[in-house]
Amino acid sequence: MQMVVKNGGAFSLNAGESVLSVLKKRNLATFSNCGGHGTCGKCAVRFLKGAPLPLPADRKRFSPSQLREGYRLACLAKPAQDCIVEMAFEKEREFILTSSALPSDALSSQMKSQVLLREDPKQYGKTFVIADLGTTTIVLQLVEAESGRVIDTYRALNPQRQYGSDVISRMEHALSGMDHLLADCVHYLLEGAVEKWLQAGFSPLFVVLAGNTVMDHLLLHMDVSGLSHAPFTPVTTDQVVTDIAMLKCYVMPGISAFVGGDIMAGMLSVREQMQKEQVEKALLIDLGTNGEMALIDKDRTVCTATAAGPAFEGGASANVPGTDMIALVARMLSGGIIDETGLICEEYFHNGVTVDHVCIRQEDVRGLQIAKAAVYAGIHVLLETAGCKVEELERVYLAGGFGYLLDGESAIRIGLLPAQLRGKITAVGNTALSGAYLYGKLLLAQRAEEKTAAIKKQTESINLAEQDAFQACYLQAMSLTEMAE
Ligand code: FES
Repeated sequence: MQMVVKNGGAFSLNAGESVLSVLKKRNLATFSNCGGHGTCGKCAVRFLKGAPLPLPADRKRFSPSQLREGYRLACLAKPAQDCIVEMAFEKEREFILTSSALPSDALSSQMKSQVLLREDPKQYGKTFVIADLGTTTIVLQLVEAESGRVIDTYRALNPQRQYGSDVISRMEHALSGMDHLLADCVHYLLEGAVEKWLQAGFSPLFVVLAGNTVMDHLLLHMDVSGLSHAPFTPVTTDQVVTDIAMLKCYVMPGISAFVGGDIMAGMLSVREQMQKEQVEKALLIDLGTNGEMALIDKDRTVCTATAAGPAFEGGASANVPGTDMIALVARMLSGGIIDETGLICEEYFHNGVTVDHVCIRQEDVRGLQIAKAAVYAGIHVLLETAGCKVEELERVYLAGGFGYLLDGESAIRIGLLPAQLRGKITAVGNTALSGAYLYGKLLLAQRAEEKTAAIKKQTESINLAEQDAFQACYLQAMSLTEMAE
């Protein structure tokens, strides 16, 4: 059979093969949020000819008139005759945070890449590379070792996204024998970036990489089966040394299956900040696909991760950045368009409500409620485990792009953060990068293992699924209302 993709070419299609798998092979589609299970709606295509019959998932996703126009989910559509399709999914919005609060990191990365072509490596001292290996994005920076000056930045979407946007889908693919593909695609990307700097005449000493435990395992080609089910046992959480473009690459140690090297980096970075600000108790929150958080006290840390899902990274289906969604939902609440249970008023119930040119449907609000309830309940359990009252927290450090874009008042209004944290929220940028830099400095001083071993010793990692208090608080926190601990 033949499939013609409008503005994309003609391809042969085997019987039983999905449209998405052909698009992926041809690099015409690189992402899906659900790993091709028909639940995220990110892979919409429109059949101009030869549309297969709609499946229940199509009926759920598209209106009757859209179905008649030929809209289908590409991951489930398996044409039985020649067809012509048009890609209907929006190009992903891309917001990748590189600002790591390191000195001289004010230029946009694109500008810095252009500057690099004119840079003379001799004007810099020793350098090394830091990398934030995120589930969604990967950022590498070439930094001057002594000053932390950022010489150049390379950023990209994680190519593993073609195997699903969350760690669970990626593990499923790895466990089905595609582990080498998942490892190789990231490896090539890292090598490409580092080689660019080698060719420009720089001689970085090494690479320091901070990633979550699953990302690290996939890169290192380690067995992820222990991470996919209880009791969630990683192969290792120690520092691992591998090679990237013939350079030694130090994969930062983590704490547990849920708390990886990226949070270790975050803790290194935030602890330094706390020292500067003379803060004794603080909360570090990194809201991405996995909402990771740590309650950091002078000599004890309790940390965890909560499955926030895609709501903070592009909305459940409206393709709205999570921070905008929070602000919009806060406004809808104030305007009486939704109630505290998250129900959109009858007038807009079926077709959604359009606010600032964005159509928000009931399912978008539900996605946000689920994510925000998980985060709120996670904070509640951390406080309870640490025996700390919310009033005792002097700061909330919000890591990642979210921190810069989040309107703290809206976050409190919808009950994402406890009301007592009003006025204490500070954005700290990409702490995986700033912590990786600190780790690189420690490596140079031969103190990295000693320092991280000390942090590990005083850190307790908890699995929220095992906490009764989490379940109870989670249900309560689904309500879209200001909440106080
Ligand atoms: S619905 Fe098709 S990839 Fe998610």
